[in-house]
Amino acid sequence: MKVPFVDLKKLHDPIRNEIDDAISSVVDRNAYIKQKDLQMFEEEMAGWLGAKAVTGTSCGTCSLQLALEALGIGSNDEVITAVNTAIPTGEAITASGANVVFADIKPGTFTLDPASVHNAITSHTKAIIPVHLYGFPVPMNEILNIASEYNLYVIEDVAQAQGAAYHGKKAGTFGILSCFSFFPSKNLGAFGDGGAVAGMDSELINRTAMLANHGRKEKYVHEFEGYNYRLDNLQAAVLRVKLKYLDQWNRKRRAAAALYDEGLSETDEVITPVPPENCESVYHLYVIRIPDRDSLAAFLKEKGIATGLHYPRPLHLQPAYARLGLGSGCFPEAEKAAQEILSLPMFPDISPEQTGFVCRTIKEYYKNVRK
Ligand SMILES: Cc1ncc(COP(=O)(O)O)c(C=O)c1O
Repeated sequence: MKVPFVDLKKLHDPIRNEIDDAISSVVDRNAYIKQKDLQMFEEEMAGWLGAKAVTGTSCGTCSLQLALEALGIGSNDEVITAVNTAIPTGEAITASGANVVFADIKPGTFTLDPASVHNAITSHTKAIIPVHLYGFPVPMNEILNIASEYNLYVIEDVAQAQGAAYHGKKAGTFGILSCFSFFPSKNLGAFGDGGAVAGMDSELINRTAMLANHGRKEKYVHEFEGYNYRLDNLQAAVLRVKLKYLDQWNRKRRAAAALYDEGLSETDEVITPVPPENCESVYHLYVIRIPDRDSLAAFLKEKGIATGLHYPRPLHLQPAYARLGLGSGCFPEAEKAAQEILSLPMFPDISPEQTGFVCRTIKEYYKNVRK
């Protein structure tokens, strides 16, 4: 049996007609930029999320940069984020002109450690970007408390957690702004790049939308310089179709995660992911922790099972951030996690046969291969 890491064809096949119709309609109308499909998607996404307003953008990285700039964050400012995130979170901070400040993750979790955030605050700190990694929401209360104590903005990175909830409230409704990615393999993915910024303050979302569209509201009036960071209407038309299925797909991801949890429960070497208290995960990824990650990954590959690493090097150890002068040992929890993590195949339509095969193969490895 072959188990791919992600199977987008299996996801799209049952709704292929709906998607094809949506695409044809856009082509028939020549409706490519800033058209009604985009406006409707923004409204529908705001309704689904429980946000006041949403503006589409061209990617998650752009969403983060736009959010920072819409809040007036730039040079001489510092923004704190988790060191185990995907590089776009760091890149966006740098692109805004601000300085990236990394913080460690809480032991036993994959998300920001409030104590480490606390230690990283200086008089230049303007914002914290908690990253809801792997589909696990960050326990937001602690982060929000720190932010209010030091008068900092909270911008959520929800790229990997569309639909995750903390105390029953969706990730992306806690910060002043929240940033989404619609990279194709995300829980809600476009047919290419895409993103969105959501918020409770319509004025701020309007400013974000203007920044994403050359600083304008009206066609020929540019109130300031911005960017071309718009979400294509064609992508919005696809996303409108897919948004209707997102909750159902997230439920299927949770069911698959439960099968993994159960199938791996008797393998002592494997630590399965447990959502922190009051957190509901949408399992963008199913990430286990094991002591001998590389050899297990190689064994699974031999057996036809694809795996991933998210991410093998915390950002402070990437050449891109050598300028920060932070070496090994600066963020011990994230560094330890990076050595131990392995992402197993995860997608809404992964079958019980496939998750069962993955679990059996991992058991076989620990029983017979690595005795
Ligand atoms: C945590 C996180 N933040 C930001 C991004 C950036 O999203 P995009 O690839 O759409 O720019 C990603 C996606 O890779 C991500 O995983």
